[in-house]
Amino acid sequence: MPGLTHRLDRYLNQTLGLPRSAVRALLAQRRIVVDGQVANAVNQPVDQFARVAVDGEALPCATPVYLKLHKQAGVLSATRDAVHTTVIDLLEHPARDTLHLVGRLDRASSGLVLLTNDGRWSRALMAPDAAVEKVYEVRVRDWLTKEMVDAFAAGMHFACEDIITRPARLDILDDTLARVTLVEGRYHQIKRMFGRFRNPVLALHRVRIGVVTLPADLAEGRSCALDTEELRDSGAFWLT
Ligand code: URA
Repeated sequence: MPGLTHRLDRYLNQTLGLPRSAVRALLAQRRIVVDGQVANAVNQPVDQFARVAVDGEALPCATPVYLKLHKQAGVLSATRDAVHTTVIDLLEHPARDTLHLVGRLDRASSGLVLLTNDGRWSRALMAPDAAVEKVYEVRVRDWLTKEMVDAFAAGMHFACEDIITRPARLDILDDTLARVTLVEGRYHQIKRMFGRFRNPVLALHRVRIGVVTLPADLAEGRSCALDTEELRDSGAFWLT
């Protein structure tokens, strides 16, 4: 995941090859401007999407990218893999190699995956305190019961991590189809929760992460940009 900020001297060293002494000289002569303000310190933080200019010449700057992808089962939630197709392989976006995933989805699962180059946004969405809802449609082998609904709501002890899962919502949609809403993302969480009832998950499909939904007309393997409302409501940092 990319860093959120660089120091100004390191940034100018990476982009223009300037040594720190040259940066100091430019600063003293007020020749560096960051986001419209004259820069004044070598260690000044420079945001990953900042607009930096030296002597009025704008340096190339990264554009924030926020995508939603419809992952099909069988595709790996990773940027690169020697064997399996990854979600990055599915993208045609010119900045695809700079993107990272916002959380993961098991290889056997399908549905919504978010990709971005904005590390601050992805961290905020995944922060445990943010308790961002993730909503899944889950087909299980055997009948769903009220006992399962109660157990999901109460939380389950996972011995491996020695944690109690946070209250989860299980809505029964038909005999074997459920909508599950989680506010965390433990390893194979939903499969393990149904596993307690010896009720294997046959298919798992994510339809929402926070305010971002998977469009019904977005075909498997396809991606699109988040719209302005989703960006604003999910706290995309460059809008704030
Ligand atoms: N829970 C699972 O078991 N798998 C997923 O992909 C997501 C949640």
